Amino acid sequence: MTTTVRTRVAIVGAGPAGLLLAQLLRNAGIESVVIDSRSREDIEQTIRAGILEEGTVQALLAAGVDTHAHQVGMRHDGIELRFDGAGHRIDFADLVGRGVWLYPQHLVLQDLLGTLLPAGQDIRFELTAQRVEDVDGEQPRVVAVNAEGTEVEIVAEVVVGADGSHSIVRKAMSGSRAGLYREYPFAWFGILCEAPPSADELIYSNSPNGFALISQRSDTVQRMYFQCDPDVDPDAYTQEQLWEILQSRVPGTTLKEGPIFQRDVLQFRSFVARELRRGRVALVGDAAHTVPPTGAKGMNLAIADVLLLNDALRVLLLEDDIRPLEGYEQAALHRIWKAQNFSWWMTSMLHQVPGTSEFDAMRQLGELRSVTESRAGRTYLAEAYTGWPHPPLV
Ligand code: DHB
Repeated sequence: MTTTVRTRVAIVGAGPAGLLLAQLLRNAGIESVVIDSRSREDIEQTIRAGILEEGTVQALLAAGVDTHAHQVGMRHDGIELRFDGAGHRIDFADLVGRGVWLYPQHLVLQDLLGTLLPAGQDIRFELTAQRVEDVDGEQPRVVAVNAEGTEVEIVAEVVVGADGSHSIVRKAMSGSRAGLYREYPFAWFGILCEAPPSADELIYSNSPNGFALISQRSDTVQRMYFQCDPDVDPDAYTQEQLWEILQSRVPGTTLKEGPIFQRDVLQFRSFVARELRRGRVALVGDAAHTVPPTGAKGMNLAIADVLLLNDALRVLLLEDDIRPLEGYEQAALHRIWKAQNFSWWMTSMLHQVPGTSEFDAMRQLGELRSVTESRAGRTYLAEAYTGWPHPPLV
């Protein structure tokens, strides 16, 4: 038996993009249903990056999300690039008058769910989208299955794929025309540890042994990453070995060590879907694009997509005018390719590519010097890292 649910917008995926879109649509009185294959607990524990652009925090606040980013998060007004034995500060506040907030993604998810669920938003957990039907029609449908194996069909005026890099919605839209992508011959080994911060700000370190990022989570928990082989087994190292690798990649700083209680390997990929919209079906966030993690653009870019799509959906659903939705792809791609370039650039400037010639290694140091020794170079980095301004929220 199939249960049929009718709504105005069917949102597949309860990540930051899907949930923020539901909140923005609610603000305009537009009903939506959000589905996700994961449980609420799984979603709230997702370990992802921790940097929010100032514009992302402003968008969450303006959308009425009860976020604690300003109370719990830590404001960072700069980062350090470390190479050739020395640190170079990029002073965001001085260069562009903006900063970023260190506030991990799972807390953003808790804020969004804590705002939406008490307000009565229809969010269905453990409901897995199988396919989208009638993609080219006036009433596209998401067919999903719940934990008991019962089929649920969600019939809507618009379907939004906010369902991550393995998006079912994208498959239904574009099939094998999926997108443009680039692979990288390395990955990040990430750890969470119980220790005080090792530095006041994040350190992005290019060392002869490979890249390392010293990030933070709180006064007592730290997040760190080091460049590794994509096939590495996360359990292959002892805690002592992990500290030895990390210490060797941040020469000049003695890291404060403590028990490592979480380890994971993050794959590197750049991807942009060929189609971000077809008829009344659209993609946002990782369903539309993936960036490598260097520079933490992923969630920020997802939020930027949602701000644009929200504007287009309001005009479609309140004024019956589809033209802004037809322009969504081009509008979103403008920022997406800027962020793709920035994420690729930070990645290629800071990592050691296996098999690189001495020429390329020396050239990379030349590039880092060009950026850090020039106000224009530092300003470019600061502008992109803190995020290009958004158009005003309607
Ligand atoms: C973090 C991740 C990033 O990719 C980055 O560039 C900065 C910080 C983090 O998880 O803390």
